[in-house]
Amino acid sequence: MLIFFNQKFGKKNKYEGKKMDITEIGICGCGQMGAGIAEVASKAGIKVISYEVEDKVLQKGLAKIDKSLSRAVEKGKLDEAGKKSVLENITGTTDLNDLADCQLVIEAITENFEIKTELYKKLDSIVNKNAIIASNTSSLSITEMGATTSRPEKFCGLHFFNPVAVMKLVEVVKTITTSDETFETAKAFGEKVGKVVVSCKDTPGFVVNRLLVPYLLDAIRALEAGVATRDDIDNGMKLGCGHPMGPLELTDFIGLDTIYYIGEIMFDEFKEHHYASPPLLKAMVKAGYMGRKSGRGFYDYSEVTKKHLTFTKKSNKVLETK
Ligand code: 3HC
Repeated sequence: MLIFFNQKFGKKNKYEGKKMDITEIGICGCGQMGAGIAEVASKAGIKVISYEVEDKVLQKGLAKIDKSLSRAVEKGKLDEAGKKSVLENITGTTDLNDLADCQLVIEAITENFEIKTELYKKLDSIVNKNAIIASNTSSLSITEMGATTSRPEKFCGLHFFNPVAVMKLVEVVKTITTSDETFETAKAFGEKVGKVVVSCKDTPGFVVNRLLVPYLLDAIRALEAGVATRDDIDNGMKLGCGHPMGPLELTDFIGLDTIYYIGEIMFDEFKEHHYASPPLLKAMVKAGYMGRKSGRGFYDYSEVTKKHLTFTKKSNKVLETK
């Protein structure tokens, strides 16, 4: 009745024209990124509803959060009571309708335009009209995705980095249709979950991947050209530039398919050679060598050799592979 009265007489609803303090969010996708976002948001006292299509996948995602929190406890960053309350603040669901009252819904599902837009259509009709929808995409056009909804002014990008609990950055992406209120709310949300916000325009790769992806592709080209061995390329960047991981190790960590895919999207847009995937990367992806997640990439992550692949900043141990 109140909503009807306000609409009829042109009064502003309580969210209109000002930035919202986000206290309840929905996250679609409980994979590596979705689980990480759920963890940091819940740690910041925000109520989280994590959505997955299948219960089996959801349970796997929730287990990831549990594992990450246990690691934080081990590292002395959190106590057991803190871990318990972070977990209690997260509700898992396989019913999209449970996200109806969220103020912000973050989509962190597979990097496929059609699958994402199919989800947005459903969300658009379920989630309350004042809610913001944000995508964690690393490469797809936020503008184009927003245009498939009835609320492009309430659509933006929130690009987190893996591992979300550890990486301090979030890129907040404003399109030509994103309203200032949405943008300010998204930035405030990023800060609330403890991240440093970098604002950027909607262009492929935003800021970080625009610089990172060509660097990783160049490292693969250097390996392909026989400039140096895999370990020498990685150790060169770790020890010469202080990077926590070498480029080939980092490509394994992110996923070879992901880097290939982002590179292709950026090449399509810019038509510049340094975004094009080298044949070696394409061949490895085709062979199923996706990096850590598949057990094989530039390194071998099978049980037998895994222990030789650890590199930590603290011990300053260099990669020793067999
Ligand atoms: N919660 C809070 N803190 C945690 C944590 C958790 N769950 N797990 C670990 N930490 C903390 C640790 O306490 C430690 O902090 P300290 O240095 O203050 O003691 C720090 O995180 C590092 O943890 P570890 O010592 O256990 O691990 P390593 O030193 O081996 O580092 C790593 C692991 C953080 C993954 C490091 O190798 C790294 O930074 N790698 C680069 C990762 C990177 O570049 N990510 C971005 C990828 S690009 C991307 O995501 C964009 C996409 O679109 C492609």
